[in-house]
Amino acid sequence: MEIIIQPTAEAATRVAARIIARLLREKPDAVLGLATGSTPVLLYHDLTALKLDWSRVTTFNLDEYIGLDAAHPQSYHTFMWENLFQHINIARENVHIPDGNAKDIPKSCAKYEQQIKAAGGIDLQVLGIGTNGHIGFNEPTSSLASRTRIKTLTQQTLKENARFFGSEDRVPHHVITMGIGTILEARQNLLLAFGQGKARAIADAVEGPVSSLNPASVLQMHPVTQICLDEPAAGQLKRADYYRWVYDNKPDWQRV
Ligand code: GLP
Repeated sequence: MEIIIQPTAEAATRVAARIIARLLREKPDAVLGLATGSTPVLLYHDLTALKLDWSRVTTFNLDEYIGLDAAHPQSYHTFMWENLFQHINIARENVHIPDGNAKDIPKSCAKYEQQIKAAGGIDLQVLGIGTNGHIGFNEPTSSLASRTRIKTLTQQTLKENARFFGSEDRVPHHVITMGIGTILEARQNLLLAFGQGKARAIADAVEGPVSSLNPASVLQMHPVTQICLDEPAAGQLKRADYYRWVYDNKPDWQRV
């Protein structure tokens, strides 16, 4: 795990945007895994400003609410088109987001997994983290080997996501999410977390035991994971000084 601590969310986002930009320049037909939530909004803004060529890029989103129309203002379809896709030259047929309205959801989840395989697997997966350590919508106690499937949200997540829906009772209880096993197969993972509210989840994920109680902790088992944090999100890391020292002393050829 590479822990990159920056003074602000803006600075941490710039590092993440550079990592993705480099990949797209080196591999114009890259397959990206994308995330939603408030955390990556700035990232998508920065990526748009970089005017990269997305014409051959394929994307797979982590998750979607079940039962929301794709056009619903809070669907992750709407989020992705508003925050990224409508601003870049991506081909519509290269965009993949789980279908929360599929008639046969387990079948559509299996198809999603097949589509990821058929695309050659995910080169880089963008991740946020819930305050309970969830990645995608893999809530605590999710199987660490799980694949794309239906999950029920925890009451904590329902409460936290109520801010987007106006009230808790409007938040769908069920979602489709890539599994933890799916995420682990991405060739690179790039997790972003900002603010003091994420500090506990980050400390447990980075320095705690690998446990389904904090699903992000499974990234300790992944060979290429970068975690971009602002100072408040890094606030509970015991070895923060070491991570800063490593990043400041990187050889030039490793810098992004
Ligand atoms: C959401 C998403 C996750 C996201 C997380 C944190 O519910 N399903 O992919 O990483 O919760 O959200 P935020 O970035 O708004 O803090």
